[in-house]
Amino acid sequence: MSLIQLEGVSKNFGGLRALAEISMTVDEGKILGIMGANGAGKTTLFNVIAGYLPPTTGNVLLEGKSLLGLRPDQVCRRGIARTFQIVKPFQNLTVMENLLTAAMFGSVLIRNRQQAVAHCQTVLKDLGMLGLADTPAHALTLSKQKKLELARAISTGCKVVMLDEVMAGLTPPEVSEMLGIIREQHHSRKLTILIIEHVMRALMQLSDRIVVLHHGERIAMGTPQEIADNPRVHEVYFGEQK
Ligand SMILES: Nc1ncnc2c1ncn2[C@@H]1O[C@H](COP(=O)(O)OP(=O)(O)OP(=O)(O)O)[C@@H](O)[C@H]1O
Ligand SMILES: [Mg+2]
Repeated sequence: MSLIQLEGVSKNFGGLRALAEISMTVDEGKILGIMGANGAGKTTLFNVIAGYLPPTTGNVLLEGKSLLGLRPDQVCRRGIARTFQIVKPFQNLTVMENLLTAAMFGSVLIRNRQQAVAHCQTVLKDLGMLGLADTPAHALTLSKQKKLELARAISTGCKVVMLDEVMAGLTPPEVSEMLGIIREQHHSRKLTILIIEHVMRALMQLSDRIVVLHHGERIAMGTPQEIADNPRVHEVYFGEQK
């Protein structure tokens, strides 16, 4: 059984169809890359899966159970955490306090503050952020804020993490560092990952499979090589005929 299953998911905003009949599955432990031009529906897809937006039609299942009607915090406790494209830390809380909030409210496994502190210290250590534990979120650089988004998601003890452009705005060395962190976390925590990214180098290197959205429609799905060779993807995404 697939870990995540989408069945004919559509999302309309008034007359705009942001997602059109998206069906797909993600198997446990895999990395699914999601690509598409601005406005293609990528973030909307995450919002629907995470319970921020109800789909207009269709169903989202985790381990065969529908997530429809659950609030974002309930979806999170079922095991799906996400990062935000526009970083959304609690600005006046420290890095550690941000993680503790995620761990204590987002996880079913952590029962008390002591457990949460130990867990969050491990997450910070794994991401090379222990030295920033007491820094307020607003004082972080963009690349550190992106890492904090990832750390917060992981702190929930999730099985699935959805990463929305965690590499946007980063320098090439910072992208390489983030790639290494994602790979390491994927491996050590046995995460299933859905990743939206415009940085093609990253998406091609990380993904087992890639889905391509165009005006809300799924126009291609396959291995990175299959996507790179797909003429329709070239036409709509790179604006060229192959
Ligand atoms: N809450 C909303 N209300 C109305 N329209 C929305 C809402 N959220 C998204 N849209 C519209 O739905 C379409 C898809 O938006 P979405 O944010 O999912 O795109 P995206 O693929 O994530 O783009 P980007 O690469 O720019 O982040 C866009 O036309 C957007 O304007
Ligand atoms: Mg987006």
